[in-house]
Amino acid sequence: MLQNKNILLCVTGGIAVFKSAALTSKLVQNGANVRIIMSESAMKFVTPLTFQALSRHEVYTDTFQERNSEKIAHIDLAEWAEVILVAPATANIIGKLANGIADDLITTTLIATKAPVYIAPAMNSNMMENVAVVRNIAQLTADGYRIMDADNGYLACGYVGKGRMLAPADIIENLIVHFSENKILAGKKFLITAGPTLEKIDPVRYLSNFSSGKMGYALAKMATELGADVTLVTGPVNILPPQGVELIHVETAEEMYEAVMTRFAACDCVIKAAAVADYTPVYQESKMKKANAGLTLSLQPTKDILKTLGEKKTTQFVVGFAAETNNVEDYAKKKLHAKNADLLIANDVTQSGAGFGSDTNIVTIFDRDGAVIQLPKMEKVAVAKEILLEIFKRMK
Ligand code: PMT
Repeated sequence: MLQNKNILLCVTGGIAVFKSAALTSKLVQNGANVRIIMSESAMKFVTPLTFQALSRHEVYTDTFQERNSEKIAHIDLAEWAEVILVAPATANIIGKLANGIADDLITTTLIATKAPVYIAPAMNSNMMENVAVVRNIAQLTADGYRIMDADNGYLACGYVGKGRMLAPADIIENLIVHFSENKILAGKKFLITAGPTLEKIDPVRYLSNFSSGKMGYALAKMATELGADVTLVTGPVNILPPQGVELIHVETAEEMYEAVMTRFAACDCVIKAAAVADYTPVYQESKMKKANAGLTLSLQPTKDILKTLGEKKTTQFVVGFAAETNNVEDYAKKKLHAKNADLLIANDVTQSGAGFGSDTNIVTIFDRDGAVIQLPKMEKVAVAKEILLEIFKRMK
């Protein structure tokens, strides 16, 4: 998705500079053309050589060091960039930008550009809450800068709180979404399931699986970006929901079945990315006591939601997933037909960077006419976009 996109990364001086180095590497791996400007203080943390090696381009550091007499660096970079990222963005750069100050190469470039500018703040949590910083961030938002909200967690200064620079994978995800602004799914209602189900054994134990919800959430985020009206039925996960979706929380396969079935008639497309339990234990009202002998659990099959959708569908486009560990193609094709789905997305969850928990996935898409589309390893949000484009072509 970022292939040949011109991305200018402005690195200012905070400990999160190390994350920007990882971000540069990821941008390059995603095919972007990356140029870097470093501030004076950024160079106190990491030398330009690191960014030069990762971006494979000389790093810009000084307004007055003009390398080409036919060009003025800050104007040239400002025009070249399709997107500018300020990451990490310190309280200082945020304050300068909010007040229109242009006293170094980064600020002059930012003031000269017409490109969209994304800001990834990174600082101590008290600084983040400081009244001037809060005011400056609000000003930047009002001025049209796009703020990539800082994460919560452990900070290098020893505090725990808000102030961590967004992870490189999340920044990349935002960029991929940025470059997908065509609203091809406007007017369509999508129902997407994500995450695991949780099947209770007794009041203190349950059976579940390793789904993090990332694949389903990426689909919901991208479908929303492409203009769809999205309802996301989610099992218990620890990730933030995309903005603008209707969120329905469920725990068990039975609850997911109910949530999907009651909404199915009104939707145009269902995507079943959730990892639904195939069996649920017979629930014990009291905590089961430990015994010395082994334990056998009695399990009942759950309702197969995808299969039921395939049986009941009228005009809806139904998409299933298959998480496989072997004979991927064979099993995936069988699932496509057995569940009467219109499209089936197979992932071999034994591959590194595929399936459960990772930020990336490696999928093969099967349709009912025998088409097989094999995608390389990509960020889940990029995989989501490819899947949605395939759905779009067929829904038409
Ligand atoms: O959440 P992540 O960590 O990002 O991981 C992503 C993923 C691996 C969970 C996702 O890419 C994926 O493969 N989801 C489907 C997992 C799964 O349950 O696969 P399956 O082969 O067991 O089931 C086939 C299809 O039937 C799936 O669409 C599933 O949602 C559906 N199903 C299964 C059982 C059931 N009772 N009802 C169903 O609808």
